[in-house]
Amino acid sequence: MADLQKDGISRGDFLGFGVLGGVMGAALVVPSTLFVVGPVIDVVRGKSDVKDEWQEVMSVSEIPAGAPTSTVVEFPITQSYGNEEIQEESGNEAYDPTVRNLIWLSWYSPSGHAKESERPGFLDSKSQGFSEQEKKEILDKLNILSNSCAHLGCPVRWLEIEGQGEFLCPCHGGIYTLNGDYVAGPPPRGMYEYPKAEVRDDGKLYVKHEFDGSAPYGEPHVI
Ligand code: FES
Repeated sequence: MADLQKDGISRGDFLGFGVLGGVMGAALVVPSTLFVVGPVIDVVRGKSDVKDEWQEVMSVSEIPAGAPTSTVVEFPITQSYGNEEIQEESGNEAYDPTVRNLIWLSWYSPSGHAKESERPGFLDSKSQGFSEQEKKEILDKLNILSNSCAHLGCPVRWLEIEGQGEFLCPCHGGIYTLNGDYVAGPPPRGMYEYPKAEVRDDGKLYVKHEFDGSAPYGEPHVI
């Protein structure tokens, strides 16, 4: 026992423990980080496994003026480590892998403040059967945003502040407006949008699992 206590840890041992700790820490942190960031980053890199299909989001008439509303959309995946063939061979039709994305929906506000959002007036008396002109107005005014922060992918939250409100990222303090524009913090750009969107005759919004990746590391859009 006394000998053990006398055997001090050498500098090499100490550094070795530090390296080992770092490796173990990275092993724990990196996969979880990639899990959060993965869907958006994969799409931006053109390496997504998500099927190129339209998915229903919600009726546009249910999207309120003011603060954004959120909904979860499931996007089917094309392939997942060979499991699709295995499941098909076993006859298990229940196998249907998806990616779940939370989408923030709101109406564009010229000031970026929720209280000035511009919800089309015809939605008060009409929930489907829109004309082509009305569909265009809806898409022009609709903010369709990913909840993955443009910094490292943490889920952003809406924080109401005296009738204005902002999207706030809890990880490192990234802040965005109602329209998803960058305000402050480490994100290199505004929030990711879903550019592939359409409104159908049933009055519902449909999107594809694609994001505007044109300037992922560009200059922040400061307002
Ligand atoms: S992940 Fe959002 S600010 Fe870092």
